Amino acid sequence: MHPQAASSNAHPPAKLGGPASRIAVIPGDGIGREVIPEACKVLCAAAANRQIEMVHFDWGADKFLKENVTLPSGADQMLRDEFDAILLGALGDPRVPSNKHAAEILLGLRFKLDLYVNARPVELLDGRFTPLRDRTERDIRFIVFRENTEGLYVGMGGIFKKGTPDEVALQEDVNTRKGVERIIRYAFEHAQRHGLKRLCMSDKSNALTFGHDLWQRVFAELRREYPQIDSRHLYIDTLAMELIRDPRQFDVIVTCNLFGDIISDLGAQLAGGLGLAPSGNINPQSTSLFEPVHGSAPNIAGKGIANPIGSVLAAAMMLNHFGWTPESAAVEAAVRAALRENQVTPDLGGRLSTRAAGDWLANSVTKQRLSGTTT
Ligand code: NAD
Ligand code: IPM
Ligand code: MN
Repeated sequence: MHPQAASSNAHPPAKLGGPASRIAVIPGDGIGREVIPEACKVLCAAAANRQIEMVHFDWGADKFLKENVTLPSGADQMLRDEFDAILLGALGDPRVPSNKHAAEILLGLRFKLDLYVNARPVELLDGRFTPLRDRTERDIRFIVFRENTEGLYVGMGGIFKKGTPDEVALQEDVNTRKGVERIIRYAFEHAQRHGLKRLCMSDKSNALTFGHDLWQRVFAELRREYPQIDSRHLYIDTLAMELIRDPRQFDVIVTCNLFGDIISDLGAQLAGGLGLAPSGNINPQSTSLFEPVHGSAPNIAGKGIANPIGSVLAAAMMLNHFGWTPESAAVEAAVRAALRENQVTPDLGGRLSTRAAGDWLANSVTKQRLSGTTT
């Protein structure tokens, strides 16, 4: 896999002291339930010479609506103690307009497992799929490190005089020195480890004069420790513009939780669309979670046309995280071949169903293994 998609350490098996690597699988809602089985299929094909054990969890909207359970109590401890990694689809369902279950499961896992790095690689695997004119694979290749445990996502705040003309809604933006420092440092360390020359920290310190002043000061301190990396700052609005104008400028981007969410969807589209984008929610010391960047896509759920590649590449990030580099490379090679040969779903102009696209990728991985191309 592209070095930019790698996480910091290899995390070899296995929890519970057994020989197998244990993966918790949470398909979730909507197309999560269609794409995750395909990612599991490809994962099994890639790791056929390894021992892995997958355990499925039915957390999501159905369970919430039936049993009023979101993230079961003790789930975080169980995942930390008994699993090497988590593969998640998506959470969100029109029947739950409050989004309560999604917040408690997805954000709950990010917070409770302290998955403070949200690594979202943006890599144009096939030049035909970028909406930018005259851009090729060489031009779009960077990684977004999104702070994943604080900012505007912590859920602190409240509503006063709800439903009246005097209504007040507060949503606190929490920025801690520890939180800001560890994500910026992770981004610098990643750049250094992978020989990536340029790092951009992005905030909105011209308007958010308290919270993002802290980002400015921490960044100023840390960049002195990494003089060999060409680091700079851009305001988030300018970054959004520059990503479109000239994406070649970027190797590593580090930003806060909300801006990282937005900029990673923008990046996903630069590289061919949400259907292709993977992410890793990483705690370098503990169980990490891998998922596609996209959501549950209720507009296409149940039709069997969702693109499984985002989840498949998230599984490849997981393999890489385990230190299983040849297996991860085989999955990425399969994805490149599928794009090249148009063995893809309708969002990319192909004719395959989600399942057929997953089958094609799994077969391609198996063929590579049997022919000794990779493992
Ligand atoms: P979305 O990512 O679900 O969909 C945005 C658009 O992209 C839709 O047109 C959809 O059809 C398309 N799309 C997304 N993934 C695709 C795929 N794999 N193949 C083909 N097309 C794909 O975003 P949304 O519509 O804003 O959100 C829907 C629900 O998902 C909401 O409840 C939202 O909160 C939730 N959500 C969850 C996550 C997550 O669990 N990590 C991420 C984003 C959104
Ligand atoms: C994502 C999603 C989530 C986020 C939503 C569903 C809360 O958009 O994983 O990118 O904003 O983090
Ligand atoms: Mn998002």
